[in-house]
Amino acid sequence: MNGGASLDHPDAAVAPLFETVTLGSLELRNRLVMAPMTRACSPDGVPGADVAAYYRRRAEGGVGLIVTEGTWVGHSSASNDPNVPMFYGDRALAGWGEVCRQVHAAGAKVVPQLWHVGAAGKSDVAEIYDSVADEAEGLSPSGLVKAGVPAGRAMTTGEIETVIEAYAVAARHAFDLGFDGVEIHGAHGYLVDQFFWHETNARCDEFGGDSAARAHFAAAIVRRIRARTNPAFPIILRFSQWKMQDYGARAWPSPADLAAFLQPLVEAGVDIFHCSQRRYWEPEFAGSDLNLAGWTRRLSGKPTITVGSVTLSAEMIATLMEGATAATRATDDLVERLTREEFDLVAIGRALITNPDWPKIVAAGRTMQLQPFSVAALAQLV
Ligand code: FNR
Repeated sequence: MNGGASLDHPDAAVAPLFETVTLGSLELRNRLVMAPMTRACSPDGVPGADVAAYYRRRAEGGVGLIVTEGTWVGHSSASNDPNVPMFYGDRALAGWGEVCRQVHAAGAKVVPQLWHVGAAGKSDVAEIYDSVADEAEGLSPSGLVKAGVPAGRAMTTGEIETVIEAYAVAARHAFDLGFDGVEIHGAHGYLVDQFFWHETNARCDEFGGDSAARAHFAAAIVRRIRARTNPAFPIILRFSQWKMQDYGARAWPSPADLAAFLQPLVEAGVDIFHCSQRRYWEPEFAGSDLNLAGWTRRLSGKPTITVGSVTLSAEMIATLMEGATAATRATDDLVERLTREEFDLVAIGRALITNPDWPKIVAAGRTMQLQPFSVAALAQLV
């Protein structure tokens, strides 16, 4: 531990986390990303002053990039919770403009995460907030929320086009407001992921079929966003093997499946893949200790973000649904993996809720002094 360490002069053992990096047009002061986390604190979908202060606080703590909580694209079936912020409408967009200004004032970059739940009637945190409005008509690729479990109905080709457009319009708002890019929420079993996953996509048109075909919906969104913004506007795609409906899901059982899935997305213009795992240290495929971000970087040639229990001993579901408390876990293997370029950026979720100053604490070599996480920390937005 180094008593004089700071964000600019971090302790040597963690220094790689604090190196600057330029990924396309995105210049970041370090490798640390705030992971997107639904807080459901935006009544009527409008993020207020408390939301802006919450993000500003994490920017002041030293993260390089903030990915906001999932925020609804402007489509009637996108939302499953009226307290989750929208990314459309004058009032919500004014609130987001303030988030963007305050985060920039504190020296970090920020992208909104664009979200549509599809057939998933409940958000990640619905059981905690208990505030779910189940009024939305669930639209999804095939009217399935998992294999053999119907929910809502299959989208028509016209509805697919409307949702693609809604993503592009939201991304254009982000561009106009001065955000540093956008992230498409293609993870955890929501709409975009419902196209990716064979269990929820039984379509016989151009949006269904093998791994590559199931990526066409997301690729169309990426192309449309690119056309509506500019060639340099960063587009991040978040995806995961695991789903809220099935923690053990394997949408891409082999490296070949993953490669086939990634190719159309790279061709469409994804700049960075955000590879969601529940524990970043778990190998993705047998025969290698590379994690999902490691394989994705190798197969796509694109920068990647890793995530999942960084500095925490218990993963997300155990703490959110089962009441476990996550103690602090050391960063040694994380730093080692970053140093050997397994991934480019590291996203931190729950540990940033309980420790807004996570970067400063870790830079000072005081990782083991981080506060643990339990679900009670979500009761307030501070
Ligand atoms: C999440 N997560 C999440 N993911 C996402 O892509 N969009 C979202 O809106 C949310 N919402 C959300 C809310 C809350 C309260 C938690 C704890 C998590 C998942 C999150 O981004 C991250 O992938 C996991 O929390 C794992 O990272 P940590 O917490 O283990 O560092």
